[in-house]
Amino acid sequence: MDKLLIEGGVPLVGEVAISGAKNAALPILCASLLCGDTLRLSNIPHLNDISTMLRLIGQMGVVVTMEGNEALTLDSSGLNNPFAPYDMVKTMRASILVLGPLLARCGEARVSLPGGCAIGARPVDQHIKGLQAMGAEITVEGGYVHAKASRLRGTRIVTDMVTVTGTENLMMAAVLADGETVIENAAREPEVVDLANCLVSMGALISGAGTDCIRIQGVDKLHGAAHSVMPDRIETGTYLCAAAATHGNVRLTHTSAVWLDSVVDKLRETGCDIDCQADAIILKAPQRLKAVSIRTAPYPAFPTDMQAQFMAINCVAEGSAVIRETIFENRFMHAVELIRLGADIRIDANNALVTGVPKLDGATVMATDLRASASLVIAGLVAQGETLIERIYHLDRGYERIEEKLSRLGARVRRVR
Ligand code: EPZ
Repeated sequence: MDKLLIEGGVPLVGEVAISGAKNAALPILCASLLCGDTLRLSNIPHLNDISTMLRLIGQMGVVVTMEGNEALTLDSSGLNNPFAPYDMVKTMRASILVLGPLLARCGEARVSLPGGCAIGARPVDQHIKGLQAMGAEITVEGGYVHAKASRLRGTRIVTDMVTVTGTENLMMAAVLADGETVIENAAREPEVVDLANCLVSMGALISGAGTDCIRIQGVDKLHGAAHSVMPDRIETGTYLCAAAATHGNVRLTHTSAVWLDSVVDKLRETGCDIDCQADAIILKAPQRLKAVSIRTAPYPAFPTDMQAQFMAINCVAEGSAVIRETIFENRFMHAVELIRLGADIRIDANNALVTGVPKLDGATVMATDLRASASLVIAGLVAQGETLIERIYHLDRGYERIEEKLSRLGARVRRVR
């Protein structure tokens, strides 16, 4: 398994381009299942999760044609196998996003339950509850969701909690349903809006995306379209945190701060100077960062996917801060690894008290999930000496060419087999 070897202590300086958003691209790839015309997508990031999703819909009968470096076309006219097998779904929970589109297009689907993951149980009961409300007959047996629906019918759905992929699955199911569907308590994440924009360009009738109430008027058929995936706001936030922690000075291009208000506010609170431009963000870090307390919550509040990265910042900032994780029940696994680097972190249920220390010392650490890995990279960039991060396949799921981008900013990092 690959590892990442980092020689810490170097400020990140320079310019790097941000890739397309993983969490927008994944549902948008599934949207191609909804109609037999060609869907042309650009700004697709090169990530393991994207490759997994392309393999998954490919074995269903979707023809994927790569066009250049970041564009591809999807043709699902030959869709003939509405089945998502366990061996593919177990590696990527987002596979559940094929359920709604398959039901809407084929009237049936057999999708493996994703199974748990490092950060929590992450059930899909809201996805199932919503589809049943739309008239789907769903049974769960043998680790699979078996779903049938001659034609889904529009209805009003109120999800028990804010769920990003739950909102996306139900929105995709609703675009071909009979009548109007209203999703209340909907997720407001920008990736939900990007998916809605893509569906509208395919002929869907959707209003309210980005609010907690999304209305979808079902249509009989969608048509082909072209869509450019939005920039990855979490990759953007991750590089901003890495620059802050290393007292650097960076310019991130092909991105925007419009989706990162809560993150930019918190980085300014640490003492960073941030200049938000139309399609770039410039961050200049102070010599000493101030620790900041955060509380994760659904968009537009502070994103849970940025929690681990801020824990790394707080490890070397001045003072103490509390990090409260309200979305997932087990999303502090990076803490024990940061402690191996010399951090002072005390966990109490879903609160982490982090007290800044003068320095971290390099060590061997282990990545456990995608954003925890990012936290270890940031800590390794700051720690004195060498840090070896094991199991970095987690990183490759969500960060395109990370060692290349970091090296371009002056980091001393290389991948070792
Ligand atoms: C999406 O996951 C993202 N993944 C996650 O990013 C992100 O952390 C999460 O939203 C929260 O923002 C993708 O978009 C592919 P949820 P998702 O459904 O949709 C509970 C990353 O690092 N819940 O919004 O799976 C759930 O257990 C990944 O890129 C139910 O109980 O998250 C959690 O506690 C990690 N039943 C909470 O709701 C359900 O049916 C929010 O989960 C659905 C969710």
